[in-house]
Amino acid sequence: MGGFIRIAKTGDLTSGTMKKITVMGHDLLLARTGERYYCTDATCPHLGSDLSKGSLAGTTLTCPCIIPGSISQTGTLCSGPTSPAYG
Ligand code: FES
Repeated sequence: MGGFIRIAKTGDLTSGTMKKITVMGHDLLLARTGERYYCTDATCPHLGSDLSKGSLAGTTLTCPCIIPGSISQTGTLCSGPTSPAYG
């Protein structure tokens, strides 16, 4: 399959907000900071928490897990648990 899939309009999110979306059966998290948009897996790689229930501060997404963790702009863990639950 080629091409693009429309998942949202630019006005759907204001800066500092995020939204969980499902695309072709995959839960994704769409976030906006300033005029930039980010999209990552909506499931935390540590223990699978729903990242849409976390918090967004600037470009740092913090997982709602009891152990505070955060996900970088690239979708990798940058603090919190030392490693993902898998891998
Ligand atoms: S499930 Fe996200 S840091 Fe634990």
